[in-house]
Amino acid sequence: MTWLITGGAGYIGAHVVRAMTEAGERAVVYDDLSTGISERVPDGVPLVVGSTLDGERVARALKDHAVSGVVHLAAKKQVGESVELPLHYYHENVEGLRVLLRAVTAAAVPSFVFSSSAAVYGMPDVGLVTEETPCVPINPYGETKLAGEWLVRATGRAHGLSTASLRYFNVAGTATPELADAGVFNIVPMVFEKLTGGEPPRIFGDDYATPDGTCVRDYIHVVDLAEAHVAAARRLAAAPGTDLTLNIGRGEGVSVRRMIDRINEITGYTLPPTVAPRRPGDPARVVASADRIAAELAWKAKYGLDDMITSAWEGWLRLHPRA
Ligand SMILES: NC(=O)c1ccc[n+]([C@@H]2O[C@H](COP(=O)([O-])OP(=O)(O)OC[C@H]3O[C@@H](n4cnc5c(N)ncnc54)[C@H](O)[C@@H]3O)[C@@H](O)[C@H]2O)c1
Repeated sequence: MTWLITGGAGYIGAHVVRAMTEAGERAVVYDDLSTGISERVPDGVPLVVGSTLDGERVARALKDHAVSGVVHLAAKKQVGESVELPLHYYHENVEGLRVLLRAVTAAAVPSFVFSSSAAVYGMPDVGLVTEETPCVPINPYGETKLAGEWLVRATGRAHGLSTASLRYFNVAGTATPELADAGVFNIVPMVFEKLTGGEPPRIFGDDYATPDGTCVRDYIHVVDLAEAHVAAARRLAAAPGTDLTLNIGRGEGVSVRRMIDRINEITGYTLPPTVAPRRPGDPARVVASADRIAAELAWKAKYGLDDMITSAWEGWLRLHPRA
């Protein structure tokens, strides 16, 4: 099969392209390179530079490459920026998806995998977040992902499109240093930035109702996440009429303090963290139940926290070589 991977020049998309091609599928990348990097697209994988908002260009790409399924990762993903620029986020993430889906249904492409996020849950007050936990996003980014899920599901039902919405928890790590996340928006690169700058990493709030008082999250290695896309894509192709919504996490909570301690140990730094006030909108605990994806796709994460930190550190050193 040939899969159009939108956002395939991005951090996660490039890992999905890698996993797909290693699994023997054909991949075509569709990316506007707004945050993507063309060098991430491997030799032999066509790159179509265009926006998902450009329906004609999408339609041509689907036809030219005889695409039989789409994995849609292209989106804007910064929570803080989405609060400042909600119109931009709704335009890119929801309108961009609508235009893409119109082209996909017009071309009768039968399978569609959508990148969603644990941000759809907002501030869940449960030990383990299942797919039945109410979705109450608390920022425009999370809203665009939830609206996207609705749009994908409704289109699937109306047009006979097999669909899967994959709700990623906290993604970290890299397959190779070249594919590392170049942004500094998540805890792992944020801590690297502080440590290498000679500053102590910061903990935002240590008075949460968690075992060590700091927020608890569920981290997933990007290589495991990419494998889950291959499993989902193949399932959709094999079973027309499928409509899946799946958490992708490990089901293991890691506190901010433990994460920082482990990063210090692995990188050889010894700067203890300082404690800053809580940030608004940070839930105490967000940990996935990964039972449904295990049952539906026989998928299970293979990598642990140390693999994520070690690989991300190698990627960081490549991007920020030390004198
Ligand atoms: N990184 C995370 O922790 C995380 C967590 C949950 C969900 N997600 C979702 O995963 C997806 C990929 O995230 P990422 O971390 O790889 O981000 P990224 O910014 O590295 O990748 C996004 C890619 O999409 C492209 N793009 C953006 N808007 C586009 C448009 N309108 N048309 C065509 N291309 C466009 C960018 O150029 C980039 O290559 C996003 O949908 C994001 O919301 C990410």
